[in-house]
Amino acid sequence: MKKTSLILSLALIVTADSAVAADFSKERMTRPEGSVPFQGDRAELVAKGELLWNDKSLSKKGKKACASCHKGNTKTFKKSFAKDYPHQVKMAKSKSKMTQVDAEQMVQFCMIAAMKRDEIFAWDSEELAALTAYTVDVVQKDYLAAQ
Ligand code: HEC
Repeated sequence: MKKTSLILSLALIVTADSAVAADFSKERMTRPEGSVPFQGDRAELVAKGELLWNDKSLSKKGKKACASCHKGNTKTFKKSFAKDYPHQVKMAKSKSKMTQVDAEQMVQFCMIAAMKRDEIFAWDSEELAALTAYTVDVVQKDYLAAQ
């Protein structure tokens, strides 16, 4: 293959990849009508959520966990995190023009915006319910306590 055509093919691959990863449409980031969150024992969900919060394999390259940015459950949040959900979050407003989001939606936003995954969690998955439970019951409380 000639050098110029190789460079052209690489450019096309990079463009196609970022086009897939950048789908932040409101439809994608909103729980579909009729879908119900996974139901489970709250304490068990929180315990599973803690494992996921610290799990680097959730990120695209396997090098970053939620806890890598949100160190000590207090870092890399803005003041919006101190308010009860639903509330406005800058990331959701700028990427999807959404004026209010729930905790589970923020989990989904960080999965593709921060952890760079192509896929969000299934809306009825235990993983989403567990990470959301841990976020609200533990992380948000730790954040509030540190203010
Ligand atoms: C690369 C760094 C990074 C990683 C990794 C990361 N986040 Fe975030 N997260 C951010 C940033 C930046 C914000 C602030 C967004 C804003 O307020 O506009 C944020 C905000 C949040 C918020 C609070 C939004 C609010 O104000 O209500 C939650 C909840 C959250 N992240 C959950 C998670 C979860 C769950 C994971 C792992 C799946 C994760 N984050 C991984 C960067 C990261």
